[in-house]
Amino acid sequence: MSAPTNIALIIGSLRTESINRKFAELMVAQMPESVVIEEVNLADLPIYNQDYDDKVIDSYERVRKQLKAADAVLIVTPEHNRTMPAALKNVIDIGSRPYKENVWAAKKVAVVTASPSTYGARDSGLDVRKSMQMLAAQMMISPEVYLGNAADSLDEDGNVSERTQKYLQRFVDAFVLFAGNDSE
Ligand SMILES: Cc1cc2nc3c(=O)[nH]c(=O)nc-3n(C[C@H](O)[C@H](O)[C@H](O)COP(=O)(O)O)c2cc1C
Repeated sequence: MSAPTNIALIIGSLRTESINRKFAELMVAQMPESVVIEEVNLADLPIYNQDYDDKVIDSYERVRKQLKAADAVLIVTPEHNRTMPAALKNVIDIGSRPYKENVWAAKKVAVVTASPSTYGARDSGLDVRKSMQMLAAQMMISPEVYLGNAADSLDEDGNVSERTQKYLQRFVDAFVLFAGNDSE
């Protein structure tokens, strides 16, 4: 039997009713059984401070371990003030340090953004790509997914139209292929 593909899932929103979380859940449901998803919790992470580099912060150790172990990372995030939310930038910074212990190096990463507004939080996704380039991650280039008018796409039960489902499925299929465990 081939090894499962381990995906670390990062939701860039801390909000209970997050639309990004809802879209992430829809995409997770579309993934095959061979994929194991583990969410990286951002809510309890202290704001990164370089003074912590020579200290043991349990929540930092936890997320660094999760990110290191993952075959790929899927980030699903909103945009805050034309860039990524602080909680997401924080986990990116935490994973990037201490110097020379950057967990993002060569890590396969994909980003999906969603917003109730027209542009689909595109600037947030582009800024994630910019940071990942600096950190030498292996960024999934295509398809780019910026979900505009995203709140309107979800019905009361958090479901989307068949057309949106198919659109998400195309991304999910490409991501699972991209994430594929190279050690098989
Ligand atoms: C501090 C803050 C800044 C925001 N800035 C933007 C923005 O720049 N672009 C945008 O499309 N939406 C912006 N929004 C609206 C978010 O897209 C909206 O709150 C969205 O629902 C957040 O995603 P979530 O539902 O996954 O939490 C902002 C919201 C907050 C709270």
